[in-house]
Amino acid sequence: HPVDALIRRLPKTELHLHIEGTLEPELMFALAKRNGVALPYADVDALRAAYDFSDLQSFLDLYYAGADVLRTRQDFYDLTWAYLERAQADGIVHTEIFFDPQTHTGRGIPFDVAFGGIRQALDDARSRLGISSRLILSFLRHLSEEDGLATLEVALPHLAGIDGFGLDSSERGHPPSKFQRLFARCRSLGLPCVAHAGEEGPPAYVWEALDLLQVVRIDHGVRSLEDLGLVQRLAEARVPLTVCPLSNVRLKVCPQLAMHPLRQMLQAGLLATVNSDDPAYFGGYLQENFLACRAALDLSADEVVRLVRNGFEAAWLPAAEQARWL
Ligand code: HPA
Ligand code: ZN
Repeated sequence: HPVDALIRRLPKTELHLHIEGTLEPELMFALAKRNGVALPYADVDALRAAYDFSDLQSFLDLYYAGADVLRTRQDFYDLTWAYLERAQADGIVHTEIFFDPQTHTGRGIPFDVAFGGIRQALDDARSRLGISSRLILSFLRHLSEEDGLATLEVALPHLAGIDGFGLDSSERGHPPSKFQRLFARCRSLGLPCVAHAGEEGPPAYVWEALDLLQVVRIDHGVRSLEDLGLVQRLAEARVPLTVCPLSNVRLKVCPQLAMHPLRQMLQAGLLATVNSDDPAYFGGYLQENFLACRAALDLSADEVVRLVRNGFEAAWLPAAEQARWL
């Protein structure tokens, strides 16, 4: 299809990517062997077969269990490098990735082991792959605000290598309002904040993320369409939404890709972008998300260009660099 050639050719951004969610089954088994960790699956195929999720939580349970094979700085470097090579093959020139330090500190892996390996790979990618990046420290919302504040304290000596803060994990029952003090502290450090909201949670959580956490982007936000006042607010303020279509289908946020609201979001004037979220678990990296949406929704060349341009507009790039891509 001619639009597919356009998708492959365009330089792209990725703004919603959990680095722990890029852990492919093959690497998971290799790291398990390297670190002497026993996995409860016979082989890669058995593990892949378990990736049959009923909702966000059923995915998160496997995602956190899988991350247990990540033990050393080299493991985190190898994980991140594998993603960056993949990103380059997909035509990504700028990526803004999340890491979840509490997933690692909670099982005894020091903050600087995870952070150091990821940071080094991102730095190497700039020179070796020509990919620029930002690193977003994301807090786990199923844990307490105190746990988040303690994590932020541990991160402070490394702040020069951190570009922003995020909020992820189990959304229902853990509204943004739970983290007002933490995000006020993050903002006082002069860094931008984002939050997952309106994935499984209601539009009210998107309002809270905007008004109480003062985020500059909403991750997912697909349920915003249920609230016309919210759509108007997001459109007028040009708040970017980092949409992850294949993720939404795999986590049953959306019944099938042909019913995904991506086009409605564009038509409502929202600054929607396309991203892969946890590609090793959801069956596709960035280019696959674009190609699958093109096929299922019959996206036009104009719509694809709009989505790609939105990514550059939503990215945390200096204005001069942004202008070069736009
Ligand atoms: N939603 C919430 N938390 C997450 C996700 C997601 O899609 N991926 C990794 N952590
Ligand atoms: Zn996510």
